Amino acid sequence: MAVEFSFLTKSLNSVTGSTLVLFASSTGKDKKLAISLKGLSKDSLANLSELTSDSPFKGNINDGLFLRGTPAVEGFKNILLIGIGDLKKSNHESIRRASAVALKALKAHGVQDATVAAESLPLSGKDKDSKLAGLFEGFYLADYSSELFKSKKEEKTIKVSALFSLASAAKSAQKTHKESFVLCESINFSRSLGDSPGNKMNPLILADSAKKAAQGTGLKVTVWDEARIKKEKMGVFHSVSLGGGTEPRLIIMEYKGGGSKKPICYVGKGLTFDSGGICIKPGAGMDEMKYDMCGGANVIGAMLAIAKLKLKVNAIGIVPASENMPGPMANKPGDIVTARNGKTVEVINTDAEGRLILSDALVYASEQEPQFIVDAATLTGAMVIALGDTHTGFFSRDEKLTQKIKKAASSAGELVWEMPMHEEHSKDMKGAYADLQNVTARKGAGSAHGAVFLAEFVDPKIPWAHFDIAGTAWNTGHRVPYNNAKGASGCMIRTFVELAKQYT
Ligand code: BES
Ligand code: ZN
Ligand code: ZN
Repeated sequence: MAVEFSFLTKSLNSVTGSTLVLFASSTGKDKKLAISLKGLSKDSLANLSELTSDSPFKGNINDGLFLRGTPAVEGFKNILLIGIGDLKKSNHESIRRASAVALKALKAHGVQDATVAAESLPLSGKDKDSKLAGLFEGFYLADYSSELFKSKKEEKTIKVSALFSLASAAKSAQKTHKESFVLCESINFSRSLGDSPGNKMNPLILADSAKKAAQGTGLKVTVWDEARIKKEKMGVFHSVSLGGGTEPRLIIMEYKGGGSKKPICYVGKGLTFDSGGICIKPGAGMDEMKYDMCGGANVIGAMLAIAKLKLKVNAIGIVPASENMPGPMANKPGDIVTARNGKTVEVINTDAEGRLILSDALVYASEQEPQFIVDAATLTGAMVIALGDTHTGFFSRDEKLTQKIKKAASSAGELVWEMPMHEEHSKDMKGAYADLQNVTARKGAGSAHGAVFLAEFVDPKIPWAHFDIAGTAWNTGHRVPYNNAKGASGCMIRTFVELAKQYT
């Protein structure tokens, strides 16, 4: 990553540097700009107030003002003011967003050396650590670029020193920073997997990438090849891979940090390119189906973070990786295939392949007798229609797990929404020629139908939740400044790591 943080304990008037980053709020009924920082002299405050008096910048979130070449604050050439909005509403997420805006502004103005007045943020209260984490995460997440394959890349490093007036505050910030760095490194790694197109990311490459990234983390990575997948009776998963030019892989990542505790289990859809298969998708927008492995990529990222943070849990990540292509051996509509748990499935639509590759992976996950299973998958276009790119929809029949998920998402600053899964939906998935069919003729509730299909492969005794990330896995940047306008988001990694923390 090109952002480098360092920590400084000094009073503001004894620091010199190129650019001072100050967070400013918007207060009162008339939303006035307010700058509050211990150590900022009366003169500096008066200078800033004059410089901003006729500016449209009012300290609103997503807003910033770069003041170049002003001696407003002694010791600094430039001042970057960044809005954090209403102080009463400020939390780790608003700070995460404000920090992302700050990094983008620093980049846009060619600044390579900045001092962040950390105490201009509202860092008091019991959520002060998560607010600080927001500061670091905003910078690191906004630093990721989706331009992996451009021949010329911007490789500049921005040095950011976080300024605190108290040594104890700087010390505790350093601890928070360590965690944030690990988390963001994992998220940015997952994003790079997601952003890699089908010719640069296939099941073999995904498995190798997971193995390589896991080196030195304490994670054990086992990869099953096609022969093993067949031998293990994963007939439904295997069938999806037959139309492609690349073999499937089952990636199993194991982390043991929790002694004799039962494991927790993450499963991710690793569909490296979804053409739709014989039920081929229309050409427009088909390129986006390179992102169809984001569930798998984000499970890999969550496992890396859990291991690097040395959480006191045992965790297993399972990623079935396959292409979905219309080659001569591909599934044909009407084909009947058999899963590891013996259930037969009629493949009515080859484009509903995510649920097929996940079915066998969920059976295998259940066999590990974990405390819970959560899966992440870009499963249905219907999810995008239902919730757009703000919320990830999740489905669960377990009330306790549901509450834990809501809590984890809220502490991670990710938006999730509970979706219904009903016996009526399950009835719709019963097959005429096989036990199940992979789609239903009924209109509507496409995401729930996907979810109840998956439920057929999970041991009902194990708490399970399915996250349909079709709307949130990529291109959410116009809302969230720390995501790229185009590109993979790494969604649910933060939530999955928070969830793991509840089991430590
Ligand atoms: N990968 C797609 C789902 C998807 C679509 C994700 C658009 C993100 C954006 C999935 O494999 C798929 O094609 N699902 C079908 C299911 C249908 C045939 C029941 C869909 O949603 O159209
Ligand atoms: Zn599909
Ligand atoms: Zn798909």
